[in-house]
Parts: sequence; C-alpha cells; structure tokens
Amino acid sequence: MKILVIGSTGQLGWELQRSLLPLGKVIPVDFPDIDLSDRTSIHQWVKTTNPDVIINAAAYTAVDQAEKESDLAWSINSTAPGILAQEALSLQALLIHYSTDYVFDGSKGESYQESDSPNPINVYGASKLGGEREISKIGGEYLIFRTSWLYSTRRDCFVTKVLEWARKHEVLRIVGDQIGSPTWSRTLADTTAQALLLMKSSTQFWSDDKSGIYHLAGNGSVNRFEWAKTILDLDPSKEEQIVAEVQEAQSGDFDTPAKRPENSSLDCSLFQDTFHSFYASWEDTLVAALSK
Ligand SMILES: NC(=O)c1ccc[n+]([C@@H]2O[C@H](COP(=O)([O-])OP(=O)(O)OC[C@H]3O[C@@H](n4cnc5c(N)ncnc54)[C@H](OP(=O)(O)O)[C@@H]3O)[C@@H](O)[C@H]2O)c1
Repeated sequence: MKILVIGSTGQLGWELQRSLLPLGKVIPVDFPDIDLSDRTSIHQWVKTTNPDVIINAAAYTAVDQAEKESDLAWSINSTAPGILAQEALSLQALLIHYSTDYVFDGSKGESYQESDSPNPINVYGASKLGGEREISKIGGEYLIFRTSWLYSTRRDCFVTKVLEWARKHEVLRIVGDQIGSPTWSRTLADTTAQALLLMKSSTQFWSDDKSGIYHLAGNGSVNRFEWAKTILDLDPSKEEQIVAEVQEAQSGDFDTPAKRPENSSLDCSLFQDTFHSFYASWEDTLVAALSK
C-alpha cells in the first residue's frame, strides 16, 4: 500500500509518518514541495506518486491570521480538499482528511455529534467546513476526521506555549470560557493508522457507506484554564517553572481577530462504535504525552 502524507512536518503529519510505517510505503511531502493553493502542484504529486491512500494533514491553521488572509485560507482549506477528492476518485484511492471542531458555533452547551448543524463563527472554521463539503460533493471513498484542540510536544501549540510561559512569567492569565477536547497528535495518528488497517484488511468491514465525517478527539472536555493547570501539574521539569499564579480570564479580555466557540467539544462515539476503537480520555493522553 502506498500512502501519500501531505503536511508531513505539521503536528499531525509528523506523527502520521511514524504511525503508518507498519502499513506500507509512506511518501511524506509538505510545503513548499507541494503547494495546496496550486492545483497543478497537487496534481503533479498525486500523478507521480500514484498512491492507494492520500492523507491530507496539511491545512491553513493560523486561526487569527485567517481573518486577514481569507482567500488563502479558503484555497488551502476548501478548494484543495475538493481537488484531492477528485484526484483520489480518479485513482480509486482512499482520501483521509481532517477537519475541526471550529465548524461549530459552540452554543450547544454540550459535546457536538456529527448530526449537529455546523455554524462556523470565524474564517478558519468556515473554510474548513468548505473543505468537508467539497469532499462530500465529489464522493468516492473518504474519511473526514473532525478533531479538536490538537497538540504535540515538538511544534508550537497551546501545550508548548503554556510550558514556555510558565518559565517566563510569574502570573498567567488563561481563558476559562472556552471548552474543547484536547487531542494529542500522536494518538490521532495512531488511531488513523488503526482505522486504515481495519479498512484495508477487511473487505467485509469497508463499504462506501462508511465514507463520511467522524468526530475523533481526546475523550471528554475541559476549559482552557483547567487544561493549562493540568499541563503545569504534569510538567516533567516543574522545577524550571517560575509561575506563581494562574488566573482565570474571559475570552473578551483578549482582543483576538477571530472569535472562538464557547464549547466545541466533540462526542466521538460514532467513530468508536463504527471502527471498534477506543479513544483514551484527554487527561490520560496528556499524561502520556508529557511523561519523559
Ligand atoms: N491545531 C489544532 O488545534 C487543530 C484543531 C482542530 C483541527 N485541526 C486540523 O487538524 C489537521 C492537522 O493540523 P495540525 O495542527 O497538525 O497543523 P499544523 O501543525 O499547522 O501543520 C499544517 C501543515 O500544513 C502545511 N501547509 C500550510 N500551507 C500549505 C500549503 N499551501 N501547501 C501545503 N502544505 C501547507 C504547513 O506547512 P508550513 O509549516 O510550512 O506552513 C504544515 O506543515 C488540520 O486539518 C487542521 O485543520 C487542527
């Protein structure tokens, strides 16, 4: 099996390269070697590699910057997934793509299921929803995994920033009115590999009606303030921290260009039931991610 992994140096793409190794020949590629805002670049890569599976872990992920660079965000997050779906269909390849909890407005008050109506409140969320729609319009064999609050320990993200801030500041102010489901990129990559193995090893299991959107994130939910406190507690080099106090703030206290949903946590039971999988709690995964 040949697996083209686009976005291979990103948080998720980097982990995917490793998790997919036992499954086949992994072909990693990232910007600028491939440019998802350029149709020809996408076509060239798919044509020359001729993959059985295309995994798109690349995206325009700068949520605030997207408010200013809306055209580029739409091109990478919406148009490109549609092109990838067309390319996959013409090769009869499987497309695995990732989307976001930010397709929801966050007003439901509890975890979102796949049947809930999206209503993005920022450009990033709207462009990612556009990508989901482009792929489902084309059809073929595809899986869209909506994930949430993705982190890794090797690239800039909330977890690495909290650890860094704690070494530079005595007081931290973290918002308590945003709730989500923190997801370790390694677990998401491993779960993707397990789902792919199940699909490719059992013709009985896989049929076109399994194509679709699945929520896939750390089990449970937490607000950013509590998440930050847990990160600091689990810090393997706590003695380096100079932080003395973590204060709870409100989203309105910070003037960010993009609005964030209040509660965009994801209910992942559909994925777990369909793929006979278990997704660990966000706390257990964070313990594993931060242990030395
Ligand atoms: N991060 C989160 O909190 C979060 C939450 C929910 C869903 N997601 C989704 O999960 C997926 C993986 O996210 P991630 O956090 O792993 O992303 P990431 O770390 O930001 O990596 C994205 C990758 O895409 C590449 N890229 C950007 N523009 C490109 C272009 N024009 N052509 C080709 N590649 C390009 C980036 O390259 P450069 O580094 O060179 O720019 C980077 O390697 C994405 O679909 C994202 O929308 C993420």
